[in-house]
Amino acid sequence: MKIAVVGTGYVGLVSGTCFAETGNQVTCVDIDEAKVVKMKNGQIPIYEPGLEAVFTRNIKNERLHFTTELKEGIKGAEVIFLALPTPPGGDGKADLSFVLKVAKDLSTIIENYTVIVDKSTVPVGTAEKVHNVLKENLSEDLFDVVSNPEFLREGVAVQDFMKPERVVIGTSSDSAWKVMQRLYEPFVRQGNPIIRMDERSAELTKYAANAFLATKITFMNEIANLCEKVGANVDHVRIGIGTDSRIGKRFLFPGVGYGGSCFPKDVQALHMTSDEYGYNFNIIESVMEVNNKQKMVIANKIKTQFGDDLSGKKIGIWGLSFKPNTDDIREAPAIYTLHALLEANAEIIVHDPEAMENIEQIFGTKIKYSKDHIGVLDGIDALAIMTEWNVFRTPDFALMHQKMKNPYIFDGRNLYEAKTMKKHGFHYESIGRVPVKL
Ligand SMILES: NC(=O)c1ccc[n+]([C@@H]2O[C@H](COP(=O)([O-])OP(=O)(O)OC[C@H]3O[C@@H](n4cnc5c(N)ncnc54)[C@H](O)[C@@H]3O)[C@@H](O)[C@H]2O)c1
Repeated sequence: MKIAVVGTGYVGLVSGTCFAETGNQVTCVDIDEAKVVKMKNGQIPIYEPGLEAVFTRNIKNERLHFTTELKEGIKGAEVIFLALPTPPGGDGKADLSFVLKVAKDLSTIIENYTVIVDKSTVPVGTAEKVHNVLKENLSEDLFDVVSNPEFLREGVAVQDFMKPERVVIGTSSDSAWKVMQRLYEPFVRQGNPIIRMDERSAELTKYAANAFLATKITFMNEIANLCEKVGANVDHVRIGIGTDSRIGKRFLFPGVGYGGSCFPKDVQALHMTSDEYGYNFNIIESVMEVNNKQKMVIANKIKTQFGDDLSGKKIGIWGLSFKPNTDDIREAPAIYTLHALLEANAEIIVHDPEAMENIEQIFGTKIKYSKDHIGVLDGIDALAIMTEWNVFRTPDFALMHQKMKNPYIFDGRNLYEAKTMKKHGFHYESIGRVPVKL
């Protein structure tokens, strides 16, 4: 099948590459010229494990193409995916201007029946909005609009896309359904479902999934905070409840609050949708409030230990991306922590295996950068761990202790055992566990 993907970010590039891998002819369209030049030269503009091999193979086999020209990109395409940004607008609602602008452009250039697919995360009613924009210039029998929310996770995006637990297709058109089924069948050969529903339900499914997961994380962060007050250990509580199959083991790790390009904006957008329809979605409001506090948990622990004015204190930070195995720093808790520590006059040195360039674009010379995580440690008064990259999991504690000026570790990801930290002479505070004090 010939398909086009408009918007070649974390979702568009992975989707386009994986559709090419199953034998389709794919053209990815993006307005970012530098990105397109890079991709045409065989370079991936993002860090996503496992993507490079599939990307390179499909370029070599001439199934994956790139262009900045929408008209050229969609020529002959049976399906056009919109994988465009839907950031929060000034009013907190999802900003649909990217999606609607491309829909408008498409309305003047589509020539044959085409299935237009909203793959971006969009509020309920967007498929209708896209339909209405298209029909201004295009006969209604020349297109169908489908809602096909994407559930991939950055860091394991290729695996998620190639073997999705489910594919959700929101469409009232049988012709569009048949096209979508044909496209997705190679990805669900093990029997995972392609679920058909109406457009509105598909749109809401994506928000419900993200809001539920954000709530699960937030609930666990609250339990962790309570553990600290009552002297319980969240690791035990987590295993104690996670072994109940009704609850499940996943998304129960407490930490520094959820971040990333999806959860914060999607939770907020769901809240706005509820508001718009006069529904008071109380739990979502609490989730946002608790998460905003949780993002500050490490900065607050540091200030409680050293005082509100951190002048003269040198703080090292391990991990900047919102989670491991990605260079994505959108809404990363590390950013909030960096701002709070800078406001308190701390001197800061950071390392992240993949996100350094992105962080440098925000903080420039306000902070120092170390090319490896061990380099962060020289002469620091405290180390804060913000992302659970594997490389931080089994460090040489004796070397760490030797390099640090003062052996204080504030671990936002619970990477180490209290017993080990005590043995090596660290002051060690983590999330929801009894601290080890010097
Ligand atoms: N990142 C994720 O993990 C993830 C997962 C599921 C769903 N989503 C949703 O998918 C959508 C895209 O997210 P993303 O993370 O891939 O975004 P992104 O910001 O990484 O990529 C969007 C791309 O669209 C391009 N673009 C903007 N306007 C354009 C236009 N007029 N024509 C062509 N290209 C244009 C940008 O240059 C950019 O490359 C969002 O709605 C997001 O909520 C994201």
